[in-house]
Amino acid sequence: MARKQTSYVCQDCGASQPKWAGRCDTCGAWNSFAEEIAPEATPKGLSSKKGRKIDFVPLKGTEAQPPRRISNIAEFDRATGGGLVPGSAILVGGDPGIGKSTLMMQVTAALSASFKCVYISGEEAIDQLRLRASRLGLSDAPVGLAAATSVRNIISTMDDSDAPNVVIIDSIQCMYVDNLDSAPGTVAQVRTSAQELIRLAKRRGFALILVGHVTKEGMIAGPRVLEHIVDTVLYFEGDRSHQFRILRAVKNRFGPADEIGVFEMTERGLAEVSNPSALFLAEHDEEVSGASVFAGMEGTRPVLVEIQSLIAPSSQATPRRAVVGWDTSRLAMIMAVMEARCGLALAGSEVYLNVAGGLKISEPAADLAVASALMSSLSGTPVTSETVIFGEIGLSGEVRAVSQTEARLKEAEKLGFTRAIVPAFRKKDAGGVRYGGNMKIKEIKHLDDLLVLFPETPGTR
Ligand code: TYD
Ligand code: MG
Repeated sequence: MARKQTSYVCQDCGASQPKWAGRCDTCGAWNSFAEEIAPEATPKGLSSKKGRKIDFVPLKGTEAQPPRRISNIAEFDRATGGGLVPGSAILVGGDPGIGKSTLMMQVTAALSASFKCVYISGEEAIDQLRLRASRLGLSDAPVGLAAATSVRNIISTMDDSDAPNVVIIDSIQCMYVDNLDSAPGTVAQVRTSAQELIRLAKRRGFALILVGHVTKEGMIAGPRVLEHIVDTVLYFEGDRSHQFRILRAVKNRFGPADEIGVFEMTERGLAEVSNPSALFLAEHDEEVSGASVFAGMEGTRPVLVEIQSLIAPSSQATPRRAVVGWDTSRLAMIMAVMEARCGLALAGSEVYLNVAGGLKISEPAADLAVASALMSSLSGTPVTSETVIFGEIGLSGEVRAVSQTEARLKEAEKLGFTRAIVPAFRKKDAGGVRYGGNMKIKEIKHLDDLLVLFPETPGTR
């Protein structure tokens, strides 16, 4: 018998190569290669046997919208793009302990009111699951519970005409197929288990939710190796030290990506947060310097967050720069622009920037709010608490228009803000956005226009 082929597979990205290496060339991860037995020898080229002809059809057709299985947990349904699609596979990834099992238990219980649902756990014993369900007050929901890890057993159980409508697998890293020699949690096992389960979901028309742990390193394959074989990828993120959790769609074949659902972890499970802005705006009795309110967008939903900054003199040669919730290099860029284009002196100061509430922002539209927070901190002048700010800053100090101006302004007005500092947006070439609200809008073109609002700033020309 031929010797079994082994190869080394990066447990982070799934890249495979014949030799071990300390660093993966594909994703740059260190010490991520594990030896795995190749699933099967690569097939030889096709024989000369003729295949069947495939048919081409026009783009236009009468495809119905896929039916949706709605949980009525609005934040979850929003993140999935309007409910679960039968026959589709969803990956829910997240750090261990962030609350994936809790969310899935609540979602399954909610869906079980209208659909046949099963929850298969490979991590926890039945007693543990029951304990959680009773803590969440969900013990009476008609969910089928099982503790299993063998994909063969799961498939044999569900491959018939009365298969459930919704199946939760918690987690995919515990599942194994018995004809592979590698351990559960390796790339080969995770990928093959997922493929088998997805094939079954398509055949039997149930919505499949796979829970997957995100791992920084170690022997367990991360959900990244699954991203391309599932239809929807949701990441459950949050900061352990904060109560709120965000379910973020990073890929969705049946809806918009970037959509988020916001939850709060409470004593009795996850509670929906339908007005997230309230969570991210810090409470102040009086106006403080160094803070500004950014009107941001998360998916299609506007979210207002407070950005806080502190600038302090430093005695060190390289002053400290610390950023929480935003991009460090983006801060460096804004500071460089403020120095070069507005003549402000920041080089010798320690600069701290914090996004209140623990939210992570990635939008360049936050540039102007960050610059305002910095100028406010430098000058000791508060930005009035009734003002929201957004806009992108270019390297020459120009302020650029951003998308969704109207939605941002409307949300701010709804929350009681009366003023906005924004890029010029009423011009035709900026899209000619119309805004019919009552807020006082200040349109600015250059960072200098912002600086004049902080006349006390030291070093102002
Ligand atoms: P869990 O769902 O087990 O996380 P994961 O499946 O992502 O690993 O949740 C773990 C945390 O959630 C745990 O630290 C306790 C907390 N928790 C609550 O705060 N309230 C609750 O009602 C529940 C069930 C859990
Ligand atoms: Mg869990």
